[in-house]
Amino acid sequence: MNSGGIGTRDWGLGAASDEQAASSPQSPVPTVPDCRKDFPILATRTHGGESALTYLDNAATTQKPRVVIDATTRYYSEENANIHRGVHWLSQQATLAYDRVREQARAFLGAEHAREVIFTHGATESINLVASSYGEAFVGAGDEILVSELEHHSNLVPWQLMAGRKGARVRAIPLTTRGELDMTALVDLLGPQTRMVAITQLSNVLGTINPIEEIVALAHERGVPVLVDGAQSAPRMPVNVRELGCDFFVCSGHKMYGPTGTGLLYGRTEWLDRMPPYNGGGDMIDTVDIACSTYAPLPAKFEAGTPNIAGVVAFGAALGWIEALGRERIAEYEDALVRYAVERLSAVAGVSVIGEPTRRAGVVSFVMEGVHPHDIGTILDARGIAIRGGHHCAQPLMRRLGVVATARASFAVYNTFEEIDALVAGVEEVGRVFGS
Ligand code: ALA
Repeated sequence: MNSGGIGTRDWGLGAASDEQAASSPQSPVPTVPDCRKDFPILATRTHGGESALTYLDNAATTQKPRVVIDATTRYYSEENANIHRGVHWLSQQATLAYDRVREQARAFLGAEHAREVIFTHGATESINLVASSYGEAFVGAGDEILVSELEHHSNLVPWQLMAGRKGARVRAIPLTTRGELDMTALVDLLGPQTRMVAITQLSNVLGTINPIEEIVALAHERGVPVLVDGAQSAPRMPVNVRELGCDFFVCSGHKMYGPTGTGLLYGRTEWLDRMPPYNGGGDMIDTVDIACSTYAPLPAKFEAGTPNIAGVVAFGAALGWIEALGRERIAEYEDALVRYAVERLSAVAGVSVIGEPTRRAGVVSFVMEGVHPHDIGTILDARGIAIRGGHHCAQPLMRRLGVVATARASFAVYNTFEEIDALVAGVEEVGRVFGS
């Protein structure tokens, strides 16, 4: 274990917490049904057949099971038509398939009403929708949006754009040295001008799981709504928006074993009803005249134009695949993977695992003394191991950590302990190459 590394700050580098240590590699390992066979791409050999693919970049996007691939093919082979428009049979079939997924997504998120689930192109578009539309209705000069230092750019820039238009400002909840939110600071920052708390449930860099229920309670005491960025949490743990108590929740299909270009926005009816449309066009209107229009009720009000019908149908297949495996089981298994990865990586000479959150999932970031994360990524890639090196679309967090970049391994339910062993062997090789 190495405790040197990133500047002068103490980020709990490399140290496994007591909780993490309690589940060492010797602990019984929860098993999930063999699901690797569901993913054709996992049989790929990289670089012209040299190495087996070890895919550890799941926070960027997950691989797709056969049922998702087949659903796309089947939709285009047997069901393709535009929805909500045609009186013909095929259009009705496509409409039914699309609307069924909305109900499925409602149940997946634990929302009360299907109309509270809006299909988008992904978490980024969902946040842009809320920032723009909620901002238009409820934010004015001098108001504040609270985010955190942990946020992905997609939960920062949309708020900045809106704040710029409205004369509002974006403020950030700071982190503790463990890489968790400073909850005392949050209480101080929540003020009469706060109009929204927009916060990730699971950091895409540190894996920190934020205490959403507690944040919602604090914000709601002051009448402030909360948007939860669930891009990393929705694929990894059971999520129930009513139990979380949040006002908005967003996630991306492609990080949930589904297709790219799909996503969800959950919003409480009382907010969505009072927000103006985001995009204008077909399907979102009630009546249209040359000078003005009236709008359709939820959810159509926020779904202008022909949506990604095939994507939504395939996303439904992904949700079904996740549910069949079981979200509790996925969470339990990935938790064991992450603990194992933290413990093994921390033991490599020169490596510092970043952050020591009490609750961590899915993601392990690390740095190596004297080695740029891109070099780590390149050497690992030569062994068929795919990780991400860079700022992970979280530049403010990098600044807070005092690093320009990190290496990041991120897990999905099809990853194995052997793949983590391969990662560790690769990182040891990086150390040898760089003489760390
Ligand atoms: N948000 C994705 C990541 O963290 C792209 O890699």
